[in-house]
This record gives sequence, structure tokens and C-alpha cells, in this order.
Amino acid sequence: MPDLSTVPADQGPGAARTCCASRRQVLRAAGATALVPAGVTALAGCGPDGGGSEPTVADDGTVTVPAADTPVGGATYYADPGLVVTQPTEGEFHAYDATCPHQGCAASLFEDGRVVCPCHGSAFDPATGDVVDGPAETGLTARTVTLDGGDLQIRG
Ligand code: FES
Repeated sequence: MPDLSTVPADQGPGAARTCCASRRQVLRAAGATALVPAGVTALAGCGPDGGGSEPTVADDGTVTVPAADTPVGGATYYADPGLVVTQPTEGEFHAYDATCPHQGCAASLFEDGRVVCPCHGSAFDPATGDVVDGPAETGLTARTVTLDGGDLQIRG
């Protein structure tokens, strides 16, 4: 289980989700990555400096991100609007609300092929969002994903 002292303040329970595009937040995310326990990788950030792309959000709430952000067998975390996108097998994309069902931290890490919450170590199956290791008792909330050309349209 991760040391709770390493949980970034912006990922703790009740933390506000703010835009990930600012330089300050990207740097803060980079600092948080350095504190992640050995063997755990932070999901790709959101924004050009963080390894992913900045999502666009339409008036109807549809979120658009490039499919290329998420590698096969990997995952990408978008702090704003709080989503995790996974691609367990080539061309099979899933998206989840990143809010951990345990106490509300952002499930923003990827470890041993699982999406992991840094607060208390709950882990989730990237193909289903189901909890595979507690203390969370339920899985991540799935969003609807549609592949549109090179982009993913995420709704719900
Ligand atoms: Fe406790 Fe996620 S908030 S494991």
C-alpha cells in the first residue's frame, strides 16, 4: 500500500479537479510522480507537457481525446475532467470516472496492468473498471467510449 504521505494534495479526498493545462499543475504532477513508490507508474498526464493531450469538452459534456494518448496495455489519466482511459487490447478502449469509490481520490496510477488509486491502494481492472483490490468495494464508473477516426468521444 502506498505511503499516504506521498499522496499529492490535489489527489486527496475531496480535492478539486482543476484544469490540467497550466504549467504549474503539470510541474506539480511531475513532482508527484517522483514520489510514487517503486514499480508504480503515474498515468500519462493531461497536456502537452504531461505526456497526454489536453481534452476538449463540448457543450453537451462529450470529452474528446486522441486515441493515440493511450498505448495498448496502458492507461491515460486526465485530471480535468477526471477520466481514466484504458486500452487493454489493441483497439479496445474504455473510459472511467477517475473518482475512486473508496473515499474519492483520483485513481491516477497504473501498476501491474491495473488502474490504482494512490490514497489507499485500491486497484481496478482496466477492461471492466471492477475493483480487484480494496479497500474500495465497488469499481470505477464506466463512461461510453466511441472511436471516431483518431479520436475517442467519451460520454456519460
Ligand atoms: Fe481510498 Fe482510493 S480513496 S483507495
